[in-house]
Amino acid sequence: MTNKLTWHGHATLGLETGRYKLVIDPFFEGNPAATISSKDVAADFLLVSHGHGDHVGDAIAIAKRTGATIISNHEIAGWFAEKGVEKTHGQHLGGGHKHPFGYLKLTLALHGSGLPDGSYGGNPCGFLLTTNDGKKFYFAQDTGLFGDMKLIGEEGLDLAVVPIGDNYTMGPDDALRAVKMLEPKIVVPIHYNTWPLLAQDANAWKERVEKETKTKVMLLKPGESLSV
Ligand code: NI
Ligand code: MN
Repeated sequence: MTNKLTWHGHATLGLETGRYKLVIDPFFEGNPAATISSKDVAADFLLVSHGHGDHVGDAIAIAKRTGATIISNHEIAGWFAEKGVEKTHGQHLGGGHKHPFGYLKLTLALHGSGLPDGSYGGNPCGFLLTTNDGKKFYFAQDTGLFGDMKLIGEEGLDLAVVPIGDNYTMGPDDALRAVKMLEPKIVVPIHYNTWPLLAQDANAWKERVEKETKTKVMLLKPGESLSV
């Protein structure tokens, strides 16, 4: 079984695992880095890390068109159900569930989670996925640095996805400290260069990470994929 990770710019990621297509934080319309329209997105599951507009994105439209199940925290899952999304699955921080595509645990994230219409969005999260072929992927999504990343790293990560954009999330310095705690085989930086406020030199970050850790940094251009 192969797993294919695609970065669509910002915090939007596609993951094909086995015969399932997942999209994490499906923000296409209004995402200046996205290379495809939300209308062309295929999905079986949509994972939404928190309530902010650049993460909820086009989840409702994609779910209604494709019949995909939206997985998020309990409050956000309920909000999507109220908006007419048929299939939702709510979890909470620290809780895992065996989905058809693998075992998904919601992890801590230090961030906000207010929904676009002002509704309460519960607590933001990251995702720790154990695929059906036993790979471990951690998607930090929007978060500041926290020491419990050490605990996530103890699971033995094949891949970690971390933000480096600064201002709203970890910047390059804290993202390097995160890699030191997570110790993934591969790290992919996200949540940068979407807008001028999030401008970062990813090549410089890659050089620092690869000098100071054993982790390989994979820089994707929006629309590019990686087999893991
Ligand atoms: Ni956010
Ligand atoms: Mn964000």
